[in-house]
Amino acid sequence: MSTGPFQFMQTNELDSIVDSARDAFAKAQAPAELENAKAQFLGKSGRVTELMKGMAALGVDDKKVRGAAINLAKQAIEAALVQRRQALADRELDVQLKVEALDVSLPGRRRAAGSLHPVSLTMERIEQIFASMGFDVADGPEIETDWHSFTSLNNPPNHPARSMQDTFYVDIDGDDGIAYNLRPHTSPMQVRYAHQHVKKYAGQPVMPEIRVIAPGRTYRVDSDATHSPMFHQCEGLWLGENVSFKDLKVVFTDFCRTFFESGDLALRFRPSFFPFTEPSAEIDIQFQTGPLAGRWLEVAGSGQVHPTVVSNMGLDPERYLGFAFGMGPDRLTMLRYGVSDLRLFFDGDIRFLGQFR
Ligand code: DAH
Repeated sequence: MSTGPFQFMQTNELDSIVDSARDAFAKAQAPAELENAKAQFLGKSGRVTELMKGMAALGVDDKKVRGAAINLAKQAIEAALVQRRQALADRELDVQLKVEALDVSLPGRRRAAGSLHPVSLTMERIEQIFASMGFDVADGPEIETDWHSFTSLNNPPNHPARSMQDTFYVDIDGDDGIAYNLRPHTSPMQVRYAHQHVKKYAGQPVMPEIRVIAPGRTYRVDSDATHSPMFHQCEGLWLGENVSFKDLKVVFTDFCRTFFESGDLALRFRPSFFPFTEPSAEIDIQFQTGPLAGRWLEVAGSGQVHPTVVSNMGLDPERYLGFAFGMGPDRLTMLRYGVSDLRLFFDGDIRFLGQFR
């Protein structure tokens, strides 16, 4: 029997190296682990490599026999390695396919359809109804001059409506010396529109009646469940040579019944005061059915345009007479849809807004 390394070269010895290589490869769960395992057997100082080195001391015949046996073992290990590499790669691909799987049966992600804000719906409705009665729809500045917001509307300089409490004043670095505010109501549009109208028909034989509504944003220092610092108003003006309070009653009654789709809606004109109208009235409505039935609900201020205001419009108050009204589209929206808190309109919560389509 030979001595030396040859005795460790029994076939079963090589078989067990091949077996342990297969075991080690099987245990490897990732390519990097597999390459480490490979190094233990086929690397520079791996077990197979060491065996090869050990052959140096053998005689020629022994070398042949041993070399062939080691080569077979090496080939078996390499085959196992290739197989395991492929298995790991296949598994990685499987995982990746699962992770990136596209479930074509899922509903597509679509862009949510937007909807108009309930107050916008109301504004559009108001415009449509008044347009059908021959009213023009006008737009005007939200940053307004003191003259348009107050003075032109017969507001005495010491009138409480001018006080700092409810009006936002605007500091504009201009050299015109004009005091500006965020308009606290849409009433300045009465005068602005009348000026445009007078200018438009200057030199014409007849000036058509002024029939206009002016919806828009208004501002006051006020904030609670029924007041918002930014809110909406819609002004109305009907001025001519033959317009009376009776016309206001007819027009506004018609408007309310159409707006609320309620033919038996009752209206009440309750005496009131506004500097720009004389006489003045608050307009209350009463539903005959539904959750609000029987209660008088205030929806607008109104009155016959004050002669001073007619003068400020550039018109002769002896000749032109008419009525004006100012209503709150926010409140009309609350009444129409049964909304109890005004702030919901300005929170931007789509669970609320999505209900109005
Ligand atoms: N401008 C008034 C307000 O803000 C509402 C109003 C009342 C407007 C009477 C009018 C009117 O045109 O005639 O409370």
